[in-house]
Amino acid sequence: KKTAILISGRGSNMGALISAAMSPDYPAEITLVLSNRPDAKGLERAAELGIATAVVDHKDHAGDREAFEKSVDAVLKDHKIDLVALAGFMRILTPYLVNAWAGRMINIHPALLPSFKGLATHERALQEGVKLHGATVHYVSAEMDDGPIIMQGAVPVLDSDTPDTLAARVLNVEHQIYPKALSMVASGKAKVSGARVTGSGNSN
Ligand code: GRF
Repeated sequence: KKTAILISGRGSNMGALISAAMSPDYPAEITLVLSNRPDAKGLERAAELGIATAVVDHKDHAGDREAFEKSVDAVLKDHKIDLVALAGFMRILTPYLVNAWAGRMINIHPALLPSFKGLATHERALQEGVKLHGATVHYVSAEMDDGPIIMQGAVPVLDSDTPDTLAARVLNVEHQIYPKALSMVASGKAKVSGARVTGSGNSN
């Protein structure tokens, strides 16, 4: 399956997906990295690795989310993309793009959903005093950080944690579960059945 990764920043999850996809039996091929920010660090890394890159700058479509998404969709179609993996893509999507890619677009969120949707998940996890935290790969639906859960990875929260130390522990888990989850989706092993995804299991 031809897969595009959408990023906005450093692209460490992108890197993990690209490395995994280099193995010959991996069911997804990363053929495009698209960023909404021309200065995203991940773009340089993707280009070094020989992957096609594209920029659709949201600032060129100021205030018009659907026009922005139409441009993104056009680039994805040009590249004959089958699957889209959001990896630190910091734009809220409208139903336009979500519906166009329903069942073919996945995201990683740095929390154990449905807890801690949105931003600053590690700060909020520490504030709430949870003892387990982690990351979730899920299908993208119209609600932000919602949609059927494909895979989760959990980490302990330590008394000594700061948002940064906790973020680093979660990021490590992100890099493990995202390649596994994309593989399950691309091979058809993860099946959506109502609100649930079956067949993908648990990474812990
Ligand atoms: C990750 O923590 C991801 O879960 C979140 O944004 C961060 C992106 O990091 N949505 P990177 O660009 O993959 O390094």
